[in-house]
Amino acid sequence: MKVFINKRIPETGIKMLEEAGLEIILSENENLSHEEWLSYCKNTDTILNVGGDFKYDKKFFDACPNVKAIALYSVGFDHVEIKEATQRHIPIGNTPDVLSRATSDVAFLLMQSVARRASYNFQKVKDGNWNAFDPLHALGQELYGKTLGIFGLGRIGYEMAEKSKKAFGMNIIYHNRNHNEEAERELGAAYVSFEELIKNSDVLSVHANFTPEHKELFNYTLFEQMKSDSIFINTARGGFHNQKDLYQALVDKKIWGAGLDVTNPEPMSSDDPILGLSSVCILPHIGSATVEARNGMARLAAGNIIAFSKKEKMPYCANPDVYSDHAS
Ligand code: DGY
Repeated sequence: MKVFINKRIPETGIKMLEEAGLEIILSENENLSHEEWLSYCKNTDTILNVGGDFKYDKKFFDACPNVKAIALYSVGFDHVEIKEATQRHIPIGNTPDVLSRATSDVAFLLMQSVARRASYNFQKVKDGNWNAFDPLHALGQELYGKTLGIFGLGRIGYEMAEKSKKAFGMNIIYHNRNHNEEAERELGAAYVSFEELIKNSDVLSVHANFTPEHKELFNYTLFEQMKSDSIFINTARGGFHNQKDLYQALVDKKIWGAGLDVTNPEPMSSDDPILGLSSVCILPHIGSATVEARNGMARLAAGNIIAFSKKEKMPYCANPDVYSDHAS
């Protein structure tokens, strides 16, 4: 069985696939054009997909009828039309849990970087602009006892809430599809309506799965309802926020700061004026970029392909309905 991999993954995953006797087709060019990618996909049975550049939609599945399974090298699956895949009995694997710590670490890092204007001050040092001690210039704010609002309290949101509670004694409020009983019990997290989350958070951190109805949910109208000294953090997907509105809300002092590991668009332009603001910190989607997380993702993605090759269920599957009798 052939496995097409569009970008090299850690050796541990490659080794697993080799030991399972699978034929690995590794893209020579790491930055494939859409046409190049499609021609690889037309000639494979399974795909181990790295990144969100390529969309797996109806058009793709029609064009590549040989593809029988896809293992994503990500926890997010917003680039896949899940319903379409399920109807065609194509399991879509993903990589939950192994990157929760690393991604929540980045949310926690951004929260502090923004609160203390770390990027701005680092840039000053690099620019040779140290300046004399100034009691009033570019002051940050402390996070002790403040309220952290989590939008989407799953595994990553839980880790962010736990760290913030332990480090700064933050009060946790959250909005989610379902109650998270563990967070309520262990962290004293309070379930609130979406409106309350927006109005009462000192730091609002997005950790939900991105779906089309979330497109630019965080826009100017919403930022206007937040506290004027609040911080917006997004480590989930750039599509959650309208970046021009975010910039304007910061300029108009509707909110105080923003930390992004995901941008809209992604990649964003280096000319984006938001980069010039002092209470902003932006990273290039590095949430899972640790040795530990990336090795874990490689193991899970390879394990999903291997399970499929043995006609077993993928252990980490984004569309488990594919295994039920009602899949089509
Ligand atoms: C994920 O796993 O979804 C990360 O955002 C990397 O794409």
